[in-house]
Amino acid sequence: MPAASRWSFWLCQFVLVPFVHSVTIADIQGPAFRSPLEGQSVKSVTGVVTAKSSSGFYIQSDPVQDAAVSTGLFVFSESSQVLDAVVVGDEISLSGTVSDFRSSSDPTFLESTELESPTAITVLSTKNVVTPLVLGTDRSPPTQDLSALDVGPDGFLSVPNNQSLVDVVNATVQPTSFGIDFWSSLEGQLVTVPKPISIGFENSFGEFWVRGDWDATNVNSRGGLTLAFGPNGTPDGGPESVIIGSPLDGSVNPNMSVGKTLSDISGVIQYQFGFYYILPLTAPTVLSIPDPTVPVTNLTSIADGCTITIGDYNVDNMGPDSPHLPAAANDIATHLQTPDIMFMQEIQDNSGETDDGTVDANVTLSTLSAAIASQSNVKYNFTEVIPVNDQDGGEPGGNIRPAYLFNPKTVSLVPGLPVGGPLDAVEPVIGSDGQLTLNFNPGRIDPTNAAWDSSRKPIVAVWETTSGRRFFTINLHNAAKVDGGSSIQGDPRPPLNGAVAQRTAQVQVIASLVSELLSMNSSASVVVGGDFNEFVQTRTVFAPFNNILSEVDELADLDPVERYTYVFDNLQEQLDHVFVSSAVASRKVEVEHVHVNSWAPDVNTRTSDHDPSVARLRVC
Ligand SMILES: *[C@@H]1O[C@H](CO)[C@@H](O)[C@H](O)[C@H]1NC(C)=O
Ligand SMILES: *[C@@H]1O[C@H](CO)[C@@H](O)[C@H](O)[C@H]1NC(C)=O
Ligand SMILES: *[C@@H]1O[C@H](CO)[C@@H](O)[C@H](O)[C@H]1NC(C)=O
Ligand SMILES: *[C@@H]1O[C@H](CO)[C@@H](O)[C@H](O)[C@H]1NC(C)=O
Ligand SMILES: *[C@@H]1O[C@H](CO)[C@@H](O)[C@H](O)[C@H]1NC(C)=O
Ligand SMILES: *[C@@H]1O[C@H](CO)[C@@H](O)[C@H](O)[C@H]1NC(C)=O
Ligand SMILES: *[C@@H]1O[C@H](CO)[C@@H](O)[C@H](O)[C@H]1NC(C)=O
Repeated sequence: MPAASRWSFWLCQFVLVPFVHSVTIADIQGPAFRSPLEGQSVKSVTGVVTAKSSSGFYIQSDPVQDAAVSTGLFVFSESSQVLDAVVVGDEISLSGTVSDFRSSSDPTFLESTELESPTAITVLSTKNVVTPLVLGTDRSPPTQDLSALDVGPDGFLSVPNNQSLVDVVNATVQPTSFGIDFWSSLEGQLVTVPKPISIGFENSFGEFWVRGDWDATNVNSRGGLTLAFGPNGTPDGGPESVIIGSPLDGSVNPNMSVGKTLSDISGVIQYQFGFYYILPLTAPTVLSIPDPTVPVTNLTSIADGCTITIGDYNVDNMGPDSPHLPAAANDIATHLQTPDIMFMQEIQDNSGETDDGTVDANVTLSTLSAAIASQSNVKYNFTEVIPVNDQDGGEPGGNIRPAYLFNPKTVSLVPGLPVGGPLDAVEPVIGSDGQLTLNFNPGRIDPTNAAWDSSRKPIVAVWETTSGRRFFTINLHNAAKVDGGSSIQGDPRPPLNGAVAQRTAQVQVIASLVSELLSMNSSASVVVGGDFNEFVQTRTVFAPFNNILSEVDELADLDPVERYTYVFDNLQEQLDHVFVSSAVASRKVEVEHVHVNSWAPDVNTRTSDHDPSVARLRVC
């Protein structure tokens, strides 16, 4: 802010406010997150009405020099008398009370500045036109960081979380540097997004994220934004994206998927439900739709006795009668080309979500195997460790678990070993043949460890190729982020990452088993894969793997922006990973993420919320 305008701002506050209460919108908004006039009664606020909603209207005054200060303001009122008193284009004067409103629905939401209890509404002139600020031309969002308060080595993903609160620190916003600051500095203003591109699916309210015709970083080939490291070496939170809310005129947004191009969107900026929204004046139209064809994997099974293909797929609460089972079978048969071993997650028991004490999933797995066989020339066998009823989280009664499908023509479980019970701990042992093996095959890792409370226990197995080469696998599904998280544009900084401590402990327990295996045979081939429910950019969570395991994406040098298996809010992100021991890493490593679900034309036509992946690895 230029010194002169800062000085006049303070002068205005000191001289005018306590005595006169006659203020501008810029005085109310101020340069910080919270209003300098919070709680005060003000009068003679003037502005032009730019938009109306069912709970109030937006007014805007002439631009000011300081880009930190918004010249738009939401006037809250549900009174039809008030709402009927103004029309868009009216220049009005009014009185009211300045409030920094925090929605009661979630304490982690930010406050938004508004004028409440409006009175003395006087129409000064009509049919005024407010020209929207054109984003990308007049002002552009920053492309890397969300908040100056996201301190720590992993930026907005740093642990510990919740080191400070935006509204308590109440800093002067820095709109050219930080995303939350940028959108906050335009709160209540009318803006246009030129050439929007949809970067996700619509949510259940028909709201969706876009980026516009401005600079963006970590753009993937589909047009979306990938959660990857940014130019400054910390994770990029995609601050150059914005969520579009329900249209103010009652029109309905079209359905979205990643990569649709849309007509320009004009609307007002309003913080709600944890994000800075643009509430569009009217719904945009879809101008183009991306090619619905999803390339199939190139990593087919070779079955040369050394090479194995591994598929990894979280199939979203699948029981034997799930309507999406045939589609998942089709994905495995056609898009994944029937890998030698499938690491499956979210396999439900034989009674699906019914909470009737059923725990075995052999009907679910054989139904899936039969469905794949009907579409391919592979008849998968399967193996699982049957869990204790209702102890592993997820949908009550579903007893979801990780399990393996395997092609008995290309790989077999090392024979002669008992299948572990739910509470048996798998351990590496030297077998009677002098070879490293397991006490249970398959078995669970330290299943009574508190790290696994109400969570899936990983399933460990030891296998042989057709030429008798041995390798070990760990298929896991770590604790979900759902509970206790906060939005990327919320009050706690860095944002709360739900269950991050539990996930870190789980990675630690898995790392301990891998270390034991490697301490008994440093050249053992070990493959660890599944749904980690975490991004590798949250480096603290994966730290226990440092020096013992490498991620196949990194080894195969896959373009970082093409590493994703999930679409969430504004980002395409990777929750599903495959890691390998150094023996495997030293040989040729290939991986592909197969975007059957992230590239779906419609959110409701997806088989699962996760994309599957295929890796082709050498165990000798
Ligand atoms: C927030 O910052 C503004 C501008 O610096 C200041 O006037 C206001 O009093 C602060 N509000 C609170 C609650 O700290
Ligand atoms: C985050 O920090 C604030 C302030 O210290 C505290 O009130 C709040 O309970 C914390 N939230 C969580 C989930 O720990
Ligand atoms: C969006 O998709 C749903 C289900 O696929 C459909 O019922 C709805 O009519 C679609 N809405 C629009 C606006 O196309
Ligand atoms: C298979 O290779 C083709 C050609 O390089 C590529 O376009 C396609 O994306 C690959 N498939 C997958 C699933 O990556
Ligand atoms: C499932 O397991 C039960 C108990 O071992 C067995 O009786 C049944 O035949 C199996 N069903 C299938 C489809 O494998
Ligand atoms: C399937 O795998 C089980 C071990 O889980 C094994 O006992 C059985 O013989 C296998 N069946 C075939 C047809 O390979
Ligand atoms: C150690 O692993 C290598 C590679 O798989 C294998 O050739 C060797 O036999 C193993 N040794 C033992 C004792 O398991």
